[in-house]
Amino acid sequence: MDIAFSQACENNKKPILSVLKSAFANTNKVLEVGSGTGQHAVFFAEHLPQLSWQPSDLLINHYSINYRKEQCALENLLVPVTLDLNQPWQVVENLSLREDIDGIFTANTLHIVSKTLVEKFFIGVGEILVKGGVLCIYGPFNYQGKYTSQSNANFDLWLKQRDEESAIRDFERIVCLAGSVGLILLADNAMPANNRLLVFRMS
Ligand SMILES: C[S@@+](CC[C@H](N)C(=O)[O-])C[C@H]1O[C@@H](n2cnc3c(N)ncnc32)[C@H](O)[C@@H]1O
Repeated sequence: MDIAFSQACENNKKPILSVLKSAFANTNKVLEVGSGTGQHAVFFAEHLPQLSWQPSDLLINHYSINYRKEQCALENLLVPVTLDLNQPWQVVENLSLREDIDGIFTANTLHIVSKTLVEKFFIGVGEILVKGGVLCIYGPFNYQGKYTSQSNANFDLWLKQRDEESAIRDFERIVCLAGSVGLILLADNAMPANNRLLVFRMS
């Protein structure tokens, strides 16, 4: 099986890390939703050694994540768990998910999965994230129904042609869904290439 690689991850991991360093400064264990190739998991576990990084994704992506985990041998990088947003998070078998998760990170997932799964994502976060825990979401967003750039408009068209359920999400809808499970927006960070990094805290 081929090891998946994302050039975007290589481009965005340093700018993301610069925000995560302060957002997760008091965090012990981060659950990553939709770890994909595992490049982010390795890089953030390496550069945030004070916390444990729990990757997760559909089973099909575990091969690449496990390969990268074995190559780097970082003690704070945990074995990936299968977290499918179609399923309640409580069914995830690995016990570590039921321990204190005080950080959740996801990059470039909310525009890939359907609107319904975006809603389920927030239900899961609401069930798992401890009081005072931090949620970081990286990706492109629209504001007041408008694209922030022509490149995001082109990207959205490409997404929808590939899968009609995919779409760049509205920032206001994300803040509303987050609020419905008790998350308060702390920061909306501008990132390179017309992306954002949203930081929430569980009340
Ligand atoms: C564009 S990739 C982003 C991967 C990685 N976070 C990154 O930034 O490169 C979208 C991710 O969402 C995951 N995904 C798609 N459907 C999912 C589902 N139903 N439950 C959980 N993850 C899902 C994919 O497997 C993939 O890893």
